[in-house]
Amino acid sequence: MSSAATESHATPAAPAGTCYKVLMWEAGALTTEQLNAWQHARRELLARMRDAGIKGARGNLARLGEELRELSQQAVVAPLDTCAQAGFPLARVGALAAKLQREEGLLAYRLTPCSATVLVELTGEEGIDSLVARWCTATPDLQWCSTPLVEAVSAAEAAEWQESCRNAAGAGADTEADEENAPEFHHVTVLRSEAVEALQPAEGRVLVDATLGGGGHSELMLQGGATVWGIDQDPAARRAARKRLAAYADRLHIVAGNFRNAAELLRAEGLEAVDGILADIGISSPQVDQAERGFSFLAEGPLDMRMNPAAPRSAADIVNTAAESELADILWQYGEERASRAIARRIVQERAKAPITTTTQLADIIAGVLPRKGKQHPATRSFQALRIAVNDELGALDALLETGLSLLKSGGRFAIITFHSLEDRAVKRYFDRVTRPEIDRPEWPAPRPNPEYAARQVTRKPIVASEAELAANPRARSAKLRVIEKL
Ligand SMILES: C[S@@+](CC[C@H](N)C(=O)[O-])C[C@H]1O[C@@H](n2cnc3c(N)ncnc32)[C@H](O)[C@@H]1O
Repeated sequence: MSSAATESHATPAAPAGTCYKVLMWEAGALTTEQLNAWQHARRELLARMRDAGIKGARGNLARLGEELRELSQQAVVAPLDTCAQAGFPLARVGALAAKLQREEGLLAYRLTPCSATVLVELTGEEGIDSLVARWCTATPDLQWCSTPLVEAVSAAEAAEWQESCRNAAGAGADTEADEENAPEFHHVTVLRSEAVEALQPAEGRVLVDATLGGGGHSELMLQGGATVWGIDQDPAARRAARKRLAAYADRLHIVAGNFRNAAELLRAEGLEAVDGILADIGISSPQVDQAERGFSFLAEGPLDMRMNPAAPRSAADIVNTAAESELADILWQYGEERASRAIARRIVQERAKAPITTTTQLADIIAGVLPRKGKQHPATRSFQALRIAVNDELGALDALLETGLSLLKSGGRFAIITFHSLEDRAVKRYFDRVTRPEIDRPEWPAPRPNPEYAARQVTRKPIVASEAELAANPRARSAKLRVIEKL
């Protein structure tokens, strides 16, 4: 089973032999002055160690390396600006991660937007310098700085760092042990048979479940005989799906990452074209139900809302640092909250007194502006808006829409389930755009061929939940499934 990760990763194996920690960074990530200063410090350190008769770099270079890593994170330069939003973009440093997945002896790695620290154990004849050179040439799109920092570390140090990577990734290190301890994951799959039937699972067909979640859709695809590549950015979901679908391990490949990078993630795994893609957009029930994930205003928890716990910006970051106008825009655009300006103003007043750190604190602030009317809690729309902003949900959907068709074989199907109008509008617009053979404009004498024409609509109208499904799962009432087929 595969598990490409854009975040920190650790294999379950503990180090035993000769281990190296390698720090690589992109050439543009540091200014020449910073690099010169760092190289000077490094030369001095090595000279001091040589004079003192200290063999091996143990610890000293690592400390210097940490400084460099911090520097390189501060000094992100264009065109790395996409990093901030997307976590670590697979297309760049993450391309190295994809290569590393196949490297025997890989123990752990950590990525920043413009650097990678890799812990590896030498297992064969190949020396560390040759190994690093091979990683560099295997990622030709990246301009690696020519002097990576290579440090020998003891097995104990390696084990410690491996463990810290595991912790940094939250549950991101998908180990078998974690699966054993995975908490129960209750998510009722919406439009289960409708969505899966649309992708026609069968032996030999390769399907992508871009939102693996608890594996409800994937399970049906696997039962149909298909090979499934399941993507999720939430380590808890990946663990739950792996546990639930253990019986299909030979046909299930679980990929850690954001579906906005689906094309790169899958191509890095050697997959060029597939028979179907399903995305069941949005959050899973456990994400909302577990107070510590910070999605719910009903239970006290940290104001977090990140589906990927390693993503750079939490809801608290936005609430405590965004300008008042940005906050108001988020609440209006993603929550259609009419009181967006008043709520944003109150948030800014309150955070001047003390940081807003919990879900209930924010919910109370909003309730103070917007008294409760009817059944809906006054914070409902604001929480939805913040969640969409934290996870850049519409941006990720747009990116998936723009690349999905390129991943499909001719005749391959693209199915998307959405839960609110903003998402459905994006899907409908895109599907209309690529299924129209011709386009017409009032100023043109006749319609012209549509250069984007690449698919046909499988469902003219969106498929919605049946009465029976609605009775069993009221959450399904806003679900809409749209499907197209590549020509
Ligand atoms: C509605 S749940 C999917 C449930 C799944 N179909 C099932 O039946 O169990 C959505 C899942 O997609 C994941 N997700 C949402 N946006 C994502 C993104 N941009 N990239 C990767 N995973 C994402 C969430 O973490 C969540 O686990």
